[in-house]
Amino acid sequence: MGSTRAPAPASLSGVQALKQAAAQAAAELVRDEQKVGLGTGSTVAHLLPALAARNLKIRCAATSPATERAARELGLQIDELDDLAPLDIAIDGADQIDPQGWLVKGGGGAHTREKIVAAAASRFVVIASAEKAVPALGPPVPLELLRFGARTTLAALGEAKLRDVPPSPDGNLIADYFGPVEDPRELAARLSATPGVVEHGLFAPAMVHDILIAGPAGVEHRVVEHRTVEHRVVEHGATGRKDDR
Ligand code: 5RP
Repeated sequence: MGSTRAPAPASLSGVQALKQAAAQAAAELVRDEQKVGLGTGSTVAHLLPALAARNLKIRCAATSPATERAARELGLQIDELDDLAPLDIAIDGADQIDPQGWLVKGGGGAHTREKIVAAAASRFVVIASAEKAVPALGPPVPLELLRFGARTTLAALGEAKLRDVPPSPDGNLIADYFGPVEDPRELAARLSATPGVVEHGLFAPAMVHDILIAGPAGVEHRVVEHRTVEHRVVEHGATGRKDDR
């Protein structure tokens, strides 16, 4: 893991300032002429102006109508993912980040599109304030469910409930799984194998390349190194390297 240290901006306080610091650090990773995936949420809301301020010639794919609108208002060029992919880089927030690089995403219910965009990018960068870094993932894990048979799908999942939010832009229902997340890989496989689950919010470390976590002391840059069969998390300042599986 490498480490950059950037002071939090004075105009914002607390968590918002940290989100902005992580977003600013991520905006600086983007190069001219790149094709960029834009995530969804309040951390990404800080990324968009930081990116626009760089005046780069970039083309972007958005993961939600809200991000698309905000990005266009700032003058960023938004194209269809299918016209842009593969992407050079995608940047997005997260709800939980564990030490191995597993993520829980979907607090805003956008995880299906976010996962498609992240998977289409050569480099997926996660931005977050420090409280998102957790020792182990826990519930809830967001779900997107097909409307057809949704109650049957929920019953098959067990500890899962519909979220009281509008449907996804693709017409599906947003729900949350509240059961234990002891083994994220096993749970991800189970959720993916449940008919009616369009997508779940568990993102494996294999998808993730960089994690920028802003705390009071600055922005910590964790690099998830991808080997052919093995992935490692390298932590700055740590005495050794830690296998994530
Ligand atoms: C939306 C997401 C967001 O990236 C996640 O919920 C983090 O949100 P925020 O940046 O507002 O803390 O997955 O579906």
